[in-house]
Amino acid sequence: MRTIANPARLDEIVSEAHLGDAETFLQACRAAKAAQPSWASVPAPVRGGAIQHLGRLVEDNADALARLITLEIGKPIAESRGEVREVIDTCSFFLGEGRRLYGMTVPSEMPDKQLFTFRVPVGVAAIITAGNFPVAVPSWYLVPALLCGNAVVWKPAEYTPAIAEAFAQLILHAGIPVGTFQMVLADGPETFAGLERALDEGVVDKVGFTGSTAVGERLGELCGRHLQTPCLELGGKNPLVVLPDADLDLAVEGALFSGFGTAGQRCTSLGTAIVHRDVHDDFIDRFTKAVTEAPIGDPTRDVLYGPMIDRRFAARFEDWLELIRDHHQLHGSSAVGRIRAAASREGFVGDDPEAGLFYHPTIVDGVRADDDLYRIETFGPIVGVASFDTFDEAIALANGHGYGLSSSIYTTDPLHAFRFRERVSAGMVSVNNSTSGAEAHLPFGGNGRSGNGSRQSGVWVLDQFTRWQAMNWDYSGRLQKAQMDVADLSADLTYRVPE
Ligand code: UN1
Repeated sequence: MRTIANPARLDEIVSEAHLGDAETFLQACRAAKAAQPSWASVPAPVRGGAIQHLGRLVEDNADALARLITLEIGKPIAESRGEVREVIDTCSFFLGEGRRLYGMTVPSEMPDKQLFTFRVPVGVAAIITAGNFPVAVPSWYLVPALLCGNAVVWKPAEYTPAIAEAFAQLILHAGIPVGTFQMVLADGPETFAGLERALDEGVVDKVGFTGSTAVGERLGELCGRHLQTPCLELGGKNPLVVLPDADLDLAVEGALFSGFGTAGQRCTSLGTAIVHRDVHDDFIDRFTKAVTEAPIGDPTRDVLYGPMIDRRFAARFEDWLELIRDHHQLHGSSAVGRIRAAASREGFVGDDPEAGLFYHPTIVDGVRADDDLYRIETFGPIVGVASFDTFDEAIALANGHGYGLSSSIYTTDPLHAFRFRERVSAGMVSVNNSTSGAEAHLPFGGNGRSGNGSRQSGVWVLDQFTRWQAMNWDYSGRLQKAQMDVADLSADLTYRVPE
């Protein structure tokens, strides 16, 4: 039995959950395997209808779902509403895909023969997601996977059981048949063991995972043994480059939102601001002012961020604060670490910071390429600032940690914007916008330590949840051999234009 407390008021119990084990996970995959063919035989436009119902249901339950997100993981209510909106947007996009899901007719090299391509569902998708975006990121997998005719076993974060149950009920009430969609609550090791057995038995055909790079590597290895390519959305150390010609106030606003929104617990959160030396001091002054004045506290109110989403995240964040070194200069708050009576934060929103998992925001200036803080993803309210002199140095700093999820550049020069796009290794590039805030219909995903190149969202995710099948149909009544029985038109290749 797992008891989940409200991270903003730890004495308030939000949910209690019985976790399943490896066997529970395996059985769900077996049931999904049995259910999948009949779901695949439902015409795609009709499956799109179920996605339409889901979008309607989520919209009609948006407030309750957003409040539950704020209660169980402490996300500020405005961001929780945005997250629910992202689910609705995803449904809006894919409900129409049920009427497209296009294949092609392709000309044959022979007469009386036609070629076609079809998208076919992969089979059973096992989707394992993190709790920082407990409904939006799962929807990026579940909605297209179901639309494409797959069955899905969803393993949400075990510390968001109430949200997961609410979302699962919405999916089932939208008309997705029982068996076709199942939710299993389990911890990481039991899930991994269950997945290993399910892959051995052949009852999982695709794995989708959002979480740490370390777990992603293990899953990639496991899936590779079964000749499968998982869809991996892993960590990030997202750079935000500020050039001397940038609008500094805009850059500060972007750094504030992407560095400290969701208390820095997004995979798209800003890791290091990489600021040209000419504007460095000015940037630090303005950024410090913005962070110092930012409202932090009760997530049901209008705050920049609330608590860490779970005790485990808070503990890990405290470890990462140990990466701060003597050569760093700290800004942004009156203390570092947990907000307590003895280490208070001026302007804290709420009565008692010690009742929840609230942490001071920390700007760490003087970050260098050889710092651990430069290389290691720190999931929490901490932002590094490094400086550079040349554009090449900025690019080296933007790429040198080996992650490649999101990135941003602030500049008023189109040449610099496009040069940055060409040379940054990230899968996502923002110009004069923060590293966070991807829209639900552009490809989302990363390279290097951020993922294996898979992309979610929009039309691009269809390649994760379908396989191309090529068909040829010869109605000539005879065997026409490709390459051999192909007509050739005669040509005079010696011809030259008279001079
Ligand atoms: C994540 O943190 O896993 O772009 C996803 C953003 C959000 C999604 C983040 N829409 O920040």
